[in-house]
Formats: sequence, C-alpha cells, structure tokens
Amino acid sequence: MHQDTQVEILKELMRQVNEGKNIDAGVQYKMPTSAYVCPDVAAKEWELFFQNHPQLIGLSGDLAEPGSFMTIDDFGTPLLATRDRDGVFHAFLNACRHRGVRIAQEERGRKNVFTCPFHSWSYSNAGDLVAIPDEDHFGPIDKSCNGLIELPAVERDGLLWVHPKPDGHLDIDELLGQPLADELASFNLGNLVHGGVKTITMDLNWKLANDTFGETYHFAKLHKNTLGKIIPGNNLHLEEFGRHHRFVTASPVIGQFKGVPESEWDIHVGSAFILYYLFPNITLIAGKDNSILVKMYPDPNNSGRSTSQIFAYYSQEMIDAEAAARADGTLKEVVSADTAYDPEYRSIPTLAATMEIFTSTIEQEDYLMGELQQKSAQNGLLEYVTFGRNEPPLHHFHKTFREVLGMSPLEEVG
Ligand code: FES
Ligand SMILES: [Fe+2]
Repeated sequence: MHQDTQVEILKELMRQVNEGKNIDAGVQYKMPTSAYVCPDVAAKEWELFFQNHPQLIGLSGDLAEPGSFMTIDDFGTPLLATRDRDGVFHAFLNACRHRGVRIAQEERGRKNVFTCPFHSWSYSNAGDLVAIPDEDHFGPIDKSCNGLIELPAVERDGLLWVHPKPDGHLDIDELLGQPLADELASFNLGNLVHGGVKTITMDLNWKLANDTFGETYHFAKLHKNTLGKIIPGNNLHLEEFGRHHRFVTASPVIGQFKGVPESEWDIHVGSAFILYYLFPNITLIAGKDNSILVKMYPDPNNSGRSTSQIFAYYSQEMIDAEAAARADGTLKEVVSADTAYDPEYRSIPTLAATMEIFTSTIEQEDYLMGELQQKSAQNGLLEYVTFGRNEPPLHHFHKTFREVLGMSPLEEVG
C-alpha cells in the first residue's frame, strides 16, 4: 500500500481515537429484513453472484507447486483447480467426459493424473484425456476433443480467479479497477503458504455472515472477552472502490506514531487489520506476513443457511519462526479461545492460535448473532433493521447488492 494511503488512513484513525469518535457516515438506513429471507432474492443472487460471476477461489499458495490441485463445490459448479507441470493454473469442470462422474474427490492434494473411479478414464492436470481402458471395446473416441471442460482461470498477484461458465467473461482489471488492483498486488499475497481451512455451516443468510465484517461497533461489546481484548474497535476508516471496499481499524498502539515522521508510519503496526471486501462474497484480511480469506456462500436451497470457508495463509518466515520456537521450547500451544486471548499465551502466537482466535470468534460469537438475526427476519414481524452512521461498510454492501439485483434502494431514516 502506498505510504501516502497508509498515512491518510492512520491520521484519520488517530483523529477518531483521540476524539473518542467512530466514523460518521452522516446517515442511517433502513434495511428490509426480507432480503435475508425472500426466495426470489436468493434465487437471483445465486444466479447473478455465484453461477455467473467471477469467483475468487483462493491464493496462489493453495496450489503450491506443479501437481497441486483442489476441488471446490461452493458455487454450483463442481470445480477442479490444478497447477500443471509447467506451473500454469487451470480450472476445470470436475466431471468425466465419459458419463460425468467427478474425477477428483479429495479437497486438495498432489496429482499429475486424475483417474475417474467409474471406468478409469484418465486425465492429466492440464486437462488432457490421456487414457481410456479397453478402448478397443469402447469404440473410437477422439481424445483431443474430450479433455476436461476448461473454465476461464486467471492467477494474478497471488489471487486465483475463475469464472464458473466456460464462456464466462473474466477480466481482473475490469473487475477490481484501480487503485484497488495495484493495492492488492502490494501485499505480495503470492508468497504466502496455505495454513489451513475451517468450514462453518450455520443457519444464517450469507449476507448476515458478511454483515459481521461490516462494522467495529460491536467489538468491545460482543467480543469483550475475546477479540475485543486485543482490538479496541469503535473506529474505522473506509474507502469504497466501486462495488468493493477496504476498511481498517486502529491497533491499540496507533498512538506511538505521534511525533514520528510520517515516512516511518507503518499501517501494519498502526492497524489491527486491513480488510478488503471484494464483491460479492469475499472478505480478505491482508497482513504483512499472514492473511485470512473468508468466502461466504448461500445454500441455494435455503435462504436461511450459508457456508463460510475460512482460509489461513502465512509467510514461510512465520512458519519457520514457529518451528524454531517449537524446537527451543518457547512455543505455547493454544488449546482454546480463552487461552488464545491470554497475554501469557500470546507471547509467541502459534499459527494454530491465529486461526483459533479468528474462527472461534466468528463461529461462536458473530455467526451466533447472525442466527438470531435470521430467526427474527424469518418471523416477518420485524420489517427492517437499522444501519447506523457508524456502520457505513454495511451501507455500501447492501446498497451495492440491491443495485446489482435491480431492487429498490435503501431508505434513509428520518
Ligand atoms: S464416468 Fe468416468 S470413466 Fe466412466
Ligand atoms: Fe465480530
């Protein structure tokens, strides 16, 4: 991130902290709860946002080396993502050209050849049909036209993008725009190593899952015994980039830049996190040497249910530091969220702790609220909820998705 941008963000956060104020959008909005329930809205979202929209499926570290692969079933298209022997990223329909069986079953692994479990047709990780058993019995098949069905796939600045339709339009410059594309590139996401994934399926609309990442108002309340201990909240810098946005909140030590030349200010020190919302369903928390990617998906058959996939990524240096600490006995294993927030246990945060802190807070606190919100929405008697002046990321997200779906705009309170 440009130093000028870092300084601008940190200055605004310092102002808010000093004045004891949060961001102020100057407007509140009413949000109809039907958007979390209505099957027609859900059907349109599924069609427009998930089946016919570019999808960020992971970071380059998910396909670490030639032969790496992963399978994805989150957005209606069974997907096989591979890195071929030349290091090229591909996305295929995970379906055999003989009679359609899924050729790769595991979530991730290493394979150069995928053999279909049904009749053992085999495909290379570049998608070529390479072998048909008993071919003389089966009859002639032109192998050159019966490779796996390839989907548009682009690896760009450490991000893996696909389009779920073979003829889909995938233009990352157009999708992200500037300055967002360059800013994301500045985090060197391509150097990070995959460090684990947690899947959470709960009874809340996918937008309620997303809403939990839309303000810092709740940190010291809902998360008072967990995340709130290390992130004060109640301050927020927001910048919109078309349909996407970035939001940043202060770290407890932001005050240390007072009197320090601006050229030395470091957003990774002064912020608790830098969060990018990428339309429609991605939260990317981009750090200096670790990142977290949250992908949120509706259940296409139930507007009140969703699945979040939370991926952790670390730099090799961070992994090596943990291994060294483990070797010299200074590493403390974290076994629960409580100990994760205990300063004694955080002296050397283990990688497992980083993941534990984040995922347990989401599952047991944020999404629990989301399930309660979903119940109220489904009841139908609570017609709308209110987004405050201190919750502008929610304004932006909900305005955007409504606009794309051709729904009525959010109504201002007052
Ligand atoms: S369905 Fe795959 S080999 Fe027959
Ligand atoms: Fe939260």
